[in-house]
Amino acid sequence: MIEYTDSLSGITEDHLHGFGGGWPSPPSPKTMLKILRGSDYVALAIDSETDRVIGFITALTDGVLSAYISLLEVLPAYQGRSIGSKLVRRVLERFSDLYEVVLLCDRDLQPFYERSGMKPATGMIIRRFQRQSGES
Ligand SMILES: CC(C)(COP(=O)(O)OP(=O)(O)OC[C@H]1O[C@@H](n2cnc3c(N)ncnc32)[C@H](O)[C@@H]1OP(=O)(O)O)[C@@H](O)C(=O)NCCC(=O)NCCS
Repeated sequence: MIEYTDSLSGITEDHLHGFGGGWPSPPSPKTMLKILRGSDYVALAIDSETDRVIGFITALTDGVLSAYISLLEVLPAYQGRSIGSKLVRRVLERFSDLYEVVLLCDRDLQPFYERSGMKPATGMIIRRFQRQSGES
């Protein structure tokens, strides 16, 4: 069974293996834990049979107008089971009183987010790929 939580209680780097799979230089599990702890909001999907985190979403917010969904990932073996959609829904509910919830995504993922009521918008970004792993 997949369980959802907004709490990092009891989560260690051992629970966070396998993420960043599509990236050339993914963050280590230790760095993943730092990312989760440094975020203003986190939702986790946990496989209760293995006690493993199999999906997560992180968001940053000013607490007044805006929240930004910074990362969303579901492990490949668990994709296509609505887990990603449920994680997005949790963020949208958590920040339902704010003016805007923002994210950047590739064009082919827009239909996925549109199903949660989000609309395409234009964005800008600087990406420093040498910093992708989050290691200093
Ligand atoms: C995107 C992601 C979080 C979706 O999680 P999920 O649990 O599989 O999502 P759901 O089961 O709720 O929805 C699956 C739908 O998303 C679509 N989808 C997932 N990844 C997609 C992609 N890269 N391009 C286009 N559509 C995609 C699937 O086609 C599926 O649509 P369908 O139900 O019509 O077949 C997951 O595929 C993932 O972790 N991908 C790698 C990391 C990533 O791209 N994160 C988002 C960064 S903006």
